[in-house]
Amino acid sequence: MKDDRQSQTPFFTKLKEYAASNPTPFDVPGHKLGRINQEMIDFTGQNIFLLDSNAPLGLDTLGHPTGVIKEAMQLAAEAFHAKKAYFLVNGTTVGILAMIMTSARAKEKIIMPRNVHKSVINALILSGAMPVFIKPDLDSELGIANGISFSSAKRAIDKHPDAKAIFIINPTYFGLTSEIEKITEYAHDAGMLVLADEAHGADFYFNDQLPICAMDAGVDISATSVHKTAGSLTQSSMLLTQGDRIDHVRLQSTLNMLQSTSPSSLLIASLDVARKQMYFEGKERIDKILILARKARKQLQQISGITVVDPDYVHSRGNFEFDELRLIIKVSDLGITGFEAYKELRRKFNIQLELAESHLILAVLTMATTKDDLDNLILAMKDLSKRYYRIRHKLPKVKFTYSFPETYSRPRDAYHAPKLQVPLAEAGGEIAAEMLMIYPPGIPLVIPGEIISEEVLEDIKFYIDNGSVLHCDLDNGCVKVVDKENWPKWEGEEDEF
Ligand SMILES: Cc1ncc(COP(=O)(O)O)c(C=O)c1O
Repeated sequence: MKDDRQSQTPFFTKLKEYAASNPTPFDVPGHKLGRINQEMIDFTGQNIFLLDSNAPLGLDTLGHPTGVIKEAMQLAAEAFHAKKAYFLVNGTTVGILAMIMTSARAKEKIIMPRNVHKSVINALILSGAMPVFIKPDLDSELGIANGISFSSAKRAIDKHPDAKAIFIINPTYFGLTSEIEKITEYAHDAGMLVLADEAHGADFYFNDQLPICAMDAGVDISATSVHKTAGSLTQSSMLLTQGDRIDHVRLQSTLNMLQSTSPSSLLIASLDVARKQMYFEGKERIDKILILARKARKQLQQISGITVVDPDYVHSRGNFEFDELRLIIKVSDLGITGFEAYKELRRKFNIQLELAESHLILAVLTMATTKDDLDNLILAMKDLSKRYYRIRHKLPKVKFTYSFPETYSRPRDAYHAPKLQVPLAEAGGEIAAEMLMIYPPGIPLVIPGEIISEEVLEDIKFYIDNGSVLHCDLDNGCVKVVDKENWPKWEGEEDEF
């Protein structure tokens, strides 16, 4: 039975009423409901500016919600199987920062897989928490890192009973999950909080054929990118919580520290509307797209030189569940890299994929994907196969080491350490003072405090040679490393913060 209250959109409704009331605006934003910025209005229309307001009377405040935002968040909590929901206007990124800063203080431990998103490492720098990394399952055939096994989580929990929390990715960028229910139960019994990164799992809340969502698995707090798979505007996400293990007062004050005091009303409104649509239409529409996805997977599978990951493959590698709305298409048997396929699909077929890796490309499907979209993709893959299969006999040179570097110090210690700039090629053996990564997926190859290995430098060179941009702090070919000679920690002294 559907709950009729979910047909309400308290914030969006009030925002439209405010815009329709034609106020005389002596507040910000300075475009004053769209009186300037004509070039953009000509393209988008006036309404987008009419709805861009900064907390006028009656529209509540995100940092201290008591009115329509509070009501909208309560409806969202219920739709997303949670006790409380917090709207986020800086993506799941800010949710992850807040959940980690709320869960662990400086030098306290958090257990997590090493293939976490960069926001998790930034959260460690801000909080000062100490990561205990678990090595994820590595699939060298596909060149990706997956979920963590229950046994490796258990081992880490047993070895570090003083850890405050365990952090789980549900699912990875590629749609693979870990045994989240079992891990959660074990961690709770050990007195730890369970935190989830559900950046790629917002739609899990609305269809049982998708992997289990974090709230149903008993997780204490989850950050989910509603904008990625559930239809809201980019940057709008939610933090979901349940139970009494989370300190909600600290969580709200941390969010208020990190979020803007001018949160976008457009983003908040889009969360309100996306929640309503997912609640009423999510199940049916996801059922439909799952049928199309399965058909497309079969058709793609029949193309020479193309392999598409399916649930059987995923389970055979010991992974728990798989989001079938992620098409992981292996192209390297055609003799081309994923990077080449990614570029060609865009250039020749105007198809924009989510990302490329050495062996594969990734297509993300949501309930807004159409059969025509999938047919276009299949046509394009057939074309690639016709042109490359058996012609390029040699497999492309693909690299996959995921040689997670050795850790010397907490990320925060290295972040605050005295630094030197050294050319990337000469950084082997140095301690990183910054993160180095390719985006997407935004999983750091090196994090502050890790020793930069020759292997990782080779990986970075490979990515750059294939057209990826290395995300680092400097644009002069150098990286920031710790100036060990002037670093008390190198001499064995403890840092204070
Ligand atoms: C695994 C993972 N976690 C967190 C994030 C951050 O999410 P957002 O872009 O909503 O800030 C991303 C973004 O791509 C991600 O892939």
